[in-house]
Amino acid sequence: MTEPRVTGIRGVTLAVRDLDESLDFYRDSWGLAEVGRMGPSAWLRATGTEHHVLTLSQSPQPGLLAVRLAAPDKAAVDGLYAKAIAFGADVIDAPETLDALMGGGYGFSFRTPDGIVQQISSGVEEHASRIDDRKRPQKFSHVVLRAANYPQLRSFWMDLLGFKLSDETDGINFLRCSKDHHSVALAKADGPGLHHMAFELPDLDSLMYASGHMRTKGHNLEWGVGRHSGPGNNIFSFFIEPNGFAAEYTTEMFQVDDATYPKRSKEWWRENRPNGGRDAWQMAPKRSDKLVKARLGQLTQEIMGCDAAISKVLA
Ligand SMILES: [Fe+2]
Repeated sequence: MTEPRVTGIRGVTLAVRDLDESLDFYRDSWGLAEVGRMGPSAWLRATGTEHHVLTLSQSPQPGLLAVRLAAPDKAAVDGLYAKAIAFGADVIDAPETLDALMGGGYGFSFRTPDGIVQQISSGVEEHASRIDDRKRPQKFSHVVLRAANYPQLRSFWMDLLGFKLSDETDGINFLRCSKDHHSVALAKADGPGLHHMAFELPDLDSLMYASGHMRTKGHNLEWGVGRHSGPGNNIFSFFIEPNGFAAEYTTEMFQVDDATYPKRSKEWWRENRPNGGRDAWQMAPKRSDKLVKARLGQLTQEIMGCDAAISKVLA
């Protein structure tokens, strides 16, 4: 029997100061579509068939409430739950049928050692068709988390959830759970938090249209458009969303598989990519100070994770 593991990232759940303001941003500027709203929370989809890629919940303090991960089937969910228990993880609830309003499925949630809630699910309902618009995000791409206890967190993601290390620089570990070079990355930091989140556009042309649309809506391009000359080799443009979080459009994420992707070291990056992680095209102006602060969590006072009752409602 193969080891149960996570095989995809569905999206994230954010606490936001003003739901209407954030909905306006993510729907009218960022390009997602609302699929449901209940009380202080709303769910948004991308153009792909994933039920939702972003959950917003109004709160006095913004923060990353949860990362939503996919497992292939019920057996994998049960297997990961057993592993979480054996690992001594802070499990919030046992696997159960999830609320149909949010796509249903079967899953459970728990906290990482630095307090970020993980929701693992299988069988979540998908939309019958894609939204035919290439100028909008098609899926959630990746989340980068600030990690205070870097080695402990890395073990948690790799040994418990089955992520593999794609690349390592001095400051960031890039972890994969699918063909995408990274779905999660851990950035060394003083404390936990959301470094940035990224949504995928179909191609460069799409990303340029989406980025241009953001500018016409009055949002400043904080970095890009560029291509990371390092881990992932993906094209990027960065903006700041209304709560002070860094939000990235990306495309052309490097596709890898376990058989062919070389194991690279920090030294590999130092020797071969002196510009590692920066713009390979050398066209993008320097990152804005505001983006640097956003990724360090200095634009907002974040809360992390949420209690069990809230996590069920927000799935
Ligand atoms: Fe990124």
